[in-house]
Amino acid sequence: MFILRLLILFFAWTNLLYADDILAYEKESKEAIKELAINLKKSLKAVLKESGPTAAVEYCNIAAIDITDRISASKGIIIKRTSLKVRNEGNLATSWEKDILNRFEKRKKLGESIKSIDYKEVYVDNNNKPFFRYMKAIPTGKVCLTCHGSTINPDLRTKINELYPEDKAYDYKIGDIRGAFIVQIPLLN
Ligand code: HEC
Repeated sequence: MFILRLLILFFAWTNLLYADDILAYEKESKEAIKELAINLKKSLKAVLKESGPTAAVEYCNIAAIDITDRISASKGIIIKRTSLKVRNEGNLATSWEKDILNRFEKRKKLGESIKSIDYKEVYVDNNNKPFFRYMKAIPTGKVCLTCHGSTINPDLRTKINELYPEDKAYDYKIGDIRGAFIVQIPLLN
């Protein structure tokens, strides 16, 4: 109990300590997410139009990770995507991310618009390094249903199964939370 109180106090203190910076980090996170989201959508739309969904799946397989890594590296931050039901096992949520995603589902049920569902905090990792972390819900739009909906074209389904035998990212409907972007920024101390 004592340790728990101490932890909570420490947590509150770190958040206070960085109160000024937090706003700036939140802005930086939102900008990085916007850049990533725009880039992903643009390349997805282009390849869907040019080559159709089956080719697009193969393209996503490489490009999504590529685009994500490039934006992470160029900004010196960590940015990624995850979900409660992932297609790519490489995007599996950590226990903290799962917890936040479950809270996002509750907030949505209580009527909050997905567009405004996000979460931020300062935390200290196992090596005593402080980080800012931010998560933002990703809504399911119409274009997403081709590959994440409940009626997926059989050829496309075959291709997805080939690339992702453990795929769980289907049966989504418009307006569902598809997942979340996560940004982590190391804090200088
Ligand atoms: C052409 C098929 C296709 C379309 C359309 C598509 N996706 Fe995906 N999506 C994929 C594939 C393939 C992956 C796995 C590759 C990756 O990103 O790691 C994926 C992965 C994801 C992930 C990462 C978590 C996971 O499941 O691995 C999120 C989040 C996601 N998609 C959201 C969306 C959203 C939101 C839309 C609509 C704007 C969308 N997708 C449209 C094929 C598609």
